[in-house]
Amino acid sequence: MSGPLLSALIKISAEINSTMELDTLLPDIIKITGDYLKVRNASIMLIDWDTLTINCYTENSLHHNFLSVKQGIIGDVAGSGTEYIVNKKSSSKSSKSFLALPLKAGSKILGVFYLTDKEKDYFNDSDVKTAKYIASQCALAIERHNLYNKMRANENLQAIGLLKSSVAHDMSNLLAIADVYLGLMEEEVDKSSAMYEYVKAVKREMKYITILAKDMLDLSKDKLVVHKTKFKVSELVNELKLYSEAFSKDSNAKCEFSIKYDDEIVADKNRLFRVFFNLLNNAGDAAKENGRIVFSVKKTGTDVSFLVADNGKGIRKEDICKLFQPFYTSGKIKGTGLGLSVVHDIIEAHNGSIRVRSILGLYTCFLIRIPKDG
Ligand SMILES: Nc1ncnc2c1ncn2[C@@H]1O[C@H](COP(=O)(O)OP(=O)(O)OP(=O)(O)O)[C@@H](O)[C@H]1O
Ligand SMILES: [Mg+2]
Repeated sequence: MSGPLLSALIKISAEINSTMELDTLLPDIIKITGDYLKVRNASIMLIDWDTLTINCYTENSLHHNFLSVKQGIIGDVAGSGTEYIVNKKSSSKSSKSFLALPLKAGSKILGVFYLTDKEKDYFNDSDVKTAKYIASQCALAIERHNLYNKMRANENLQAIGLLKSSVAHDMSNLLAIADVYLGLMEEEVDKSSAMYEYVKAVKREMKYITILAKDMLDLSKDKLVVHKTKFKVSELVNELKLYSEAFSKDSNAKCEFSIKYDDEIVADKNRLFRVFFNLLNNAGDAAKENGRIVFSVKKTGTDVSFLVADNGKGIRKEDICKLFQPFYTSGKIKGTGLGLSVVHDIIEAHNGSIRVRSILGLYTCFLIRIPKDG
């Protein structure tokens, strides 16, 4: 191994061992490789498999959503994991050459190492071998970084879980007490006075906070246990109807309820209330001016099916898979991103299913099925 090569590789190993931050590591590797192989352009493209986009690191910059997987030669290498090498000696002084090597960890493709325009020359066998070696070191460093981040995220979630459970528990209890006093005020106050409207508004806001506290409490549990009782579907729907004005909020959307099945079902009524409260609230947030929100219930075999639909702003196709992840929120100032993840856990605890259909700009509908007899 030549002296300059050895010193380039030692520098790269030292970089890899000194930091877990890709934002500093990758530009350094790019610079060392570029200097050693004497190429005009060197970059590392990292694939985000969730969004199918490629982020591009160069020596001095980072471009998000630089390309899509399957777009161009880089996209092909990213998608197929097969290297691409071109050495074209032209009659002009500079030669056109490029090298696109997949960055792989096992069978997983993490990105592409891209080197172009070797100065006054083209890539020889030894350059290709060196680049491949650096690419493999790079892939190991990226994989190590990803695992480290995952571990930290898990530790954070556990810590947040503990905090959430104690805070949320105390919050629910205090809110329940405050709610009793508000109920007393509602009875005492003159029904035609402005004060009565204020009390009602405070009660409504308290409901939101109570639901949030309970959602947090449920999320902090490893396994959610539901308490099923027998009740008529309309009992649940009537409770939801009380909040229909609150759901449509500023948009003035019309909230329609259609009950095509009103027998008794066996389920956790309070938690189902929270499921539909969350879904209707999201529908209200997404609704367009004078739009429509529809809630309907029907029987499907031995299941009861619920539908919550709106003709609001819709959801991007690539975001649908993220909806049920805790803390995923988008396009809201005050969103916590907990609503749908709790909805999912509650439906799962009922041995039910939840499906989403949406077209951006047109509509969104959530379809829920649970066994009607528990
Ligand atoms: N009916 C809908 N139409 C359009 N987007 C939706 C709809 N329902 C959910 N979403 C999207 O899914 C994201 C996650 O929803 P989720 O209920 O989990 O959290 P949130 O509404 O952002 O926060 P929170 O529920 O705590 O207020 C929302 O931020 C929104 O971008
Ligand atoms: Mg929500």
